Amino acid sequence: MKLLQVLLLLGLEMMLVCVHAEGKTSLIGKNFNPEKIDGEWYTIGLASDKREKIEEHGSMRVFVEYIHFLKNSSLAYKFHIIENGKCNELYLVTDKTEEDGEYEVKYDGYNRYIMLDVDYNDYIIVRLVNIKNGETFQLMELYGRTPDLSSNIKRKFGDISKMYGIPEENIFDLTKSDRCLHARGRGKALAFRWVISSKNEKQVGKNETLPKALVL
Ligand SMILES: *[C@@H]1O[C@H](CO)[C@@H](O)[C@H](O)[C@H]1NC(C)=O
Ligand SMILES: *[C@@H]1O[C@H](CO)[C@@H](O)[C@H](O)[C@H]1NC(C)=O
Repeated sequence: MKLLQVLLLLGLEMMLVCVHAEGKTSLIGKNFNPEKIDGEWYTIGLASDKREKIEEHGSMRVFVEYIHFLKNSSLAYKFHIIENGKCNELYLVTDKTEEDGEYEVKYDGYNRYIMLDVDYNDYIIVRLVNIKNGETFQLMELYGRTPDLSSNIKRKFGDISKMYGIPEENIFDLTKSDRCLHARGRGKALAFRWVISSKNEKQVGKNETLPKALVL
């Protein structure tokens, strides 16, 4: 057990070294194959330096049901979000940026995220930076192919989140929380209504640039 932890830590440090050497945070970069992440996923963990975004009623407390790879290279997501005690569907299309494994989407501001670590049959770790009215926050997401993941992967998610400066108390394991699991599957037969931007954010455009220090 101890040895495994040491190995995991070593692995993380190696990742950091690589990240540093390449000057960007993507751990998979050019090897990322977006077609392979198509399909069903579950939100396992969320972490943010703006805790209220992932607490109950937070806009980023969203539960993924599936991801579709679109022909034009965009990724379409179906989520659930709890609003007024009800599980509502949320569809978002995120467009590829010039970087491999990086996407952008308008939702509660402008967001850019990167697929930080992916095992196509098991888990995805995403790092997102949001900007709205000049303020930014980070969001880390852990998705699993199954409703729960091994404690090793969850620990890795926690460690990576901490590496990005997110405090322990802002790292949530949601597997014991209501994730709208009962609401899954209903939308499959319906035509997809992909919503690109939600209400109340006309003022936030792609032209709003991310502060340098926080660029992914
Ligand atoms: C890709 O296709 C989807 C679905 O038709 C659309 O919503 C999205 O805006 C497209 N993305 C780009 C970059 O054209
Ligand atoms: C930025 O984009 C928004 C919406 O796309 C637009 O309304 C606004 O005028 C733009 N601002 C600048 C400085 O170009």
